[in-house]
Amino acid sequence: MSSKPRVLSGAQPTADSYHLGNYFGAFKQWVALQDEFEAFYFIPDLHAITVDYDPKLLPERTYIAAAQLLAAGVDPKRSALFVQSHVPEHTQLAWVLSGITGFGEAGRMTQFKDKTAKGGTDKASIGLFTYPILMAADILLYQAAKVPVGEDQRQHVELTRNLAQRFNHRFGETFVVPEAHILKATAKIYDLQNPTAKMSGSATSHAGVVNLTDDPKAAVKKIRSAVTDSGTEIRFDPAEKPGISNLLTIFSALTGRTITDIEAEFAGQQYGHLKVALGDIVGDFVADFGSRTRELLDDRGELDRILAEGADSAREVASQTLADVYRRSGFVPSQRG
Ligand code: TRP
Repeated sequence: MSSKPRVLSGAQPTADSYHLGNYFGAFKQWVALQDEFEAFYFIPDLHAITVDYDPKLLPERTYIAAAQLLAAGVDPKRSALFVQSHVPEHTQLAWVLSGITGFGEAGRMTQFKDKTAKGGTDKASIGLFTYPILMAADILLYQAAKVPVGEDQRQHVELTRNLAQRFNHRFGETFVVPEAHILKATAKIYDLQNPTAKMSGSATSHAGVVNLTDDPKAAVKKIRSAVTDSGTEIRFDPAEKPGISNLLTIFSALTGRTITDIEAEFAGQQYGHLKVALGDIVGDFVADFGSRTRELLDDRGELDRILAEGADSAREVASQTLADVYRRSGFVPSQRG
């Protein structure tokens, strides 16, 4: 077994593709973390059913998610890549944790409040309410030290820490208390049409969202039609120039060049020049990413095999944690294994 500390994260399969924001905001760091950590990355399909969804679309979305994570550089030789529902320990631990989670405590989760702000809590599912408890189980099963997530998930990781400490205190040392690894602001990509909102798969219009498997021509068009700011100067200034700053961030993220360097290249030029240059770069990127993803999707046998191996490695760890939790919880051990 590896002596490296563990890292764990998941990205929901709620759209037909992940987008550029997921790639730079999350997956690139997941990939980098594989060097220093024993990594567990998974597709939280159990979380995806807490809101209205189509069961006919979910399997393909799950496969696409897996293929895109592999195309992004998640390495199944070093890391466990798996589907959450393949590891039943997630729901089993979630139930135990629900017994030590306060109703009021769960009710303070701002994501639940945000997601139900429009429709009201009467229309929300219990699953959406208890979602953070399942997320805590995801993390604690693997004794993960670090959890790379966006700012929007910070409170859920905080709840996870509280539950770990509470369980350890009441039932004896069982869980590693995890830390959130919040992604840097410079990696944040915004919607091209609404550059003060995060690029999001649930945006009402996808005109401002570059999906990782967009047709290259469509991606180029999205960049060229990006909303820009008043004025003419190409300068990184998120407060005054959110549109141009977002394009500069994407440029820098895709080329590895510094913002200063890119500003210098485009000094005295017009917004259109930046958009054309960036459009080409983004077009090449999605062409390459898309073809690698399709290759993986074309070999379902191999994809199934990778996910099965990932689930095996995950279960090895998860089953041990769950057995420990059951024993400490006072459940009589089953004689049937
Ligand atoms: N809730 C996370 C999101 O929507 C996804 C997720 C589920 C997750 N379980 C997790 C992230 C465990 C990190 C760790 O982004």
